Amino acid sequence: MDKNTSIKRVLVTGGRGMLGNDLCRIFDEKGMVVFQTDIDDMDVRNYDLIRKTIEDNQPEIILHLAALTDVDECERSPEEAYLTNAIGTKNIALISKNCKLPVVYISTGSVFNGEKAEPYDEFDKPDPKSAYSRSKYIGEEFIKDFSYSYYIVRAGWMFGGGPQDKKFVAKMIEIARKNGKLSAVNDKFGTPTYTVDFANGIFNLIQTGRYGIYHMGNTGWCSRMEMAERIVEYAGLKDCPITGVSSAMFPLSAHRPRMEAIDNLHCRLEGFDWMRHWTEALSDYITTTLLQPQKSTLTIKEM
Ligand SMILES: NC(=O)c1ccc[n+]([C@@H]2O[C@H](COP(=O)([O-])OP(=O)(O)OC[C@H]3O[C@@H](n4cnc5c(N)ncnc54)[C@H](OP(=O)(O)O)[C@@H]3O)[C@@H](O)[C@H]2O)c1
Repeated sequence: MDKNTSIKRVLVTGGRGMLGNDLCRIFDEKGMVVFQTDIDDMDVRNYDLIRKTIEDNQPEIILHLAALTDVDECERSPEEAYLTNAIGTKNIALISKNCKLPVVYISTGSVFNGEKAEPYDEFDKPDPKSAYSRSKYIGEEFIKDFSYSYYIVRAGWMFGGGPQDKKFVAKMIEIARKNGKLSAVNDKFGTPTYTVDFANGIFNLIQTGRYGIYHMGNTGWCSRMEMAERIVEYAGLKDCPITGVSSAMFPLSAHRPRMEAIDNLHCRLEGFDWMRHWTEALSDYITTTLLQPQKSTLTIKEM
């Protein structure tokens, strides 16, 4: 167990995605040797290639972020979702066991059916309703069944990425600037999760050796509309009215749970109080990173 405190070499899958870029930078800044892989150099559907990459680079832990994350595309092509998110994760789990390496698997609060009135904790039973959520949950099961040792860490509505941000926060700011008004869904609830806080949380967690399933969102929860209100405020966009609308106005291919907020109960019980409130994290992201991008000086090993 204590072996974890000496981890220095990490291999990251899906390392050039939204979370991957921030996580690799943060681990690099903390002095880790980071092997940043993505689909072009280590496709997680290719067992032999993963095995060879691990043998060549000798990491001490695998951080498995790679996934097909377009929820509607996964619904349209469920076999693709299962191949990458489930079978790709089975490959990682089997190699973790064969090479005696712990693995961190990033999962999602959308593994639950969304019918609960309150945020879900780790002791609630998953019941995924979309192809994406099913594929991620089957990935969890493979990790539990086959890996050497594991941390399964579920995130909420992720935001981050800075200048490359094309997701909810950047989109809301772009539309607000263009149209001077916004509409946002007021009947879906989640836990905003800042990539930077999440990556720092993962860093802390892997030092502990306290394996298991953890929820790791920023604290608190909100509707998409409440999040949009804070985005506009922190971006300094005054006089931008926001209308709350029903999700029925935006029919999408994939089911979105009404409630996908997560409660970090397991972390709290273990005394891991690393995550700040989502409003503080969002304000920090918008004011210090998204609207004021900084230069980077990385030494990450691009594969
Ligand atoms: N975004 C969220 O709100 C959220 C919430 C909860 C959990 N998560 C989980 O967090 C992780 C990171 O998500 P993210 O938001 O950073 O997603 P992202 O930006 O889409 O990053 C995922 C990365 O995985 C890569 N990838 C896809 N197929 C691959 C394959 N076969 N082999 C290797 N790499 C592959 C993607 O490459 P391409 O871009 O070239 O396809 C992309 O760089 C995922 O496991 C996701 O399920 C995300």
